[in-house]
Amino acid sequence: MPGVDPLKACLQEYRRRTPASRRIHARARKFLPGGNTRSVVYFSPYPFVMARGRGCWIYDVDGNRYLDFVNNYTSSVHGHAHPRIVAAIKEQLERGWTCAAAIESQHRLAEIICRRFRSVERIRFCNSGTEANMMAIRAARAYTGRDKILKMEGGYHGSYPEVEISARPRPELAGEAESPLSLPDSPGIPKGVAREVLVAPFNNAEAAERIIRQNRRELAAVIVEPMLGIAGQIPPRPGYLQFLREITEANDVLLIFDEVMTARLAVGGAQEFFGVTSDVTTFGKIIGGDLPAGAFGGREEVMELFSPERREFIHHAGTFNGNALAMVAGMATLKLLNATAIDRINRMGEYLAQELKKIFAEADVAARVTGAGSLRHVHFTRGEVVDYRSAMAADEIAARVFFFSLLNEGIFISPRGMFCISTPMERRTADRLVEEAGKIVGVLKSLSKR
Ligand SMILES: Cc1ncc(COP(=O)(O)O)c(C=O)c1O
Repeated sequence: MPGVDPLKACLQEYRRRTPASRRIHARARKFLPGGNTRSVVYFSPYPFVMARGRGCWIYDVDGNRYLDFVNNYTSSVHGHAHPRIVAAIKEQLERGWTCAAAIESQHRLAEIICRRFRSVERIRFCNSGTEANMMAIRAARAYTGRDKILKMEGGYHGSYPEVEISARPRPELAGEAESPLSLPDSPGIPKGVAREVLVAPFNNAEAAERIIRQNRRELAAVIVEPMLGIAGQIPPRPGYLQFLREITEANDVLLIFDEVMTARLAVGGAQEFFGVTSDVTTFGKIIGGDLPAGAFGGREEVMELFSPERREFIHHAGTFNGNALAMVAGMATLKLLNATAIDRINRMGEYLAQELKKIFAEADVAARVTGAGSLRHVHFTRGEVVDYRSAMAADEIAARVFFFSLLNEGIFISPRGMFCISTPMERRTADRLVEEAGKIVGVLKSLSKR
């Protein structure tokens, strides 16, 4: 309709469909700041409130149902309430789920992960991806006796000071693209932290080499997501990860792969998918079967620093580390996520990406679809997306219109454009997304500025 602001129209329809969510959010604001306890799930004017989920569907408190392409930011690889995972959790519940002793399922899940990820010789469990990265960095510092780390601009490794440096900086404040400044992402991060964290643009081998060489005497580790995730599923350029592997080895610096998101790309994770291994790898999301769990593991000589059988060791406690519910849910999840299942969701991700590219190209919408395997992202920009800054060049209004238009038709992707495949999805699930996207390409084209 000429003269109608597409975003306003989408928001009006969203409000009309979600009055109970709106009421609950208003009440929640009295007790939770902004009605929220997990920044990433908030979007304005208010997020819908989920009532339940089953398979690839979720249902909100207003009775709307959505095809869930967010999958709890990729952790729900088998969708919701998968019967085998439910059975594993129920069986454990009957027997109790935590105690201050070793639990056999910890050993079993550790063995499963070590056998899948060939660079992981020893592993430890914690409660989240954030904690896993915290401890992996600690291990690298203890092992090398150095303090600094190098991370990528736009690289997300969780929410604690050391990694909340330049995960989402404002590009206009972040300095030269080749030599990004180390900027705290939010208030409360001590100034000294930024001095210990160096930042490089993703996919830029020369910049990484320069920074590593200049700082080699103080640098403990390079931490990188093999595919930049929250920044927009940006794959590594051919040879980039291999280069990081070689340059870190040559300079005696540890390489940490954050596989919290990418572990689902192959049986052996992104390191198998892209054919490059790390010294230390961090995990979260799928490895605890969608219950709170994280893990970090790697070369025996690094990980043995945690052994309490040593006279001096890295202290790593945690009341809920390796809790039995997450361990059995993780085992059930990884058992289901075999090579056949992974191949199927990866192929579906590829199919969906190709179909979306086709409809955007035919309608001349300024859009790029990035990602690999089952992990994908739509960026509304004409330029190639290879790093954080090229992703930030995308049009935010177009992304918001795309998000709300799909949401109003019962399709849930992330507000910034991320979508991923879960195993209960079928070809027709992917086709629904393409069909709905096809209905709004005209509007998206009218918003395409670049
Ligand atoms: C690549 C990556 N690392 C770390 C994290 C943090 O994990 P958690 O939210 O479990 O702390 C995330 C979360 O999305 C992530 O995507």
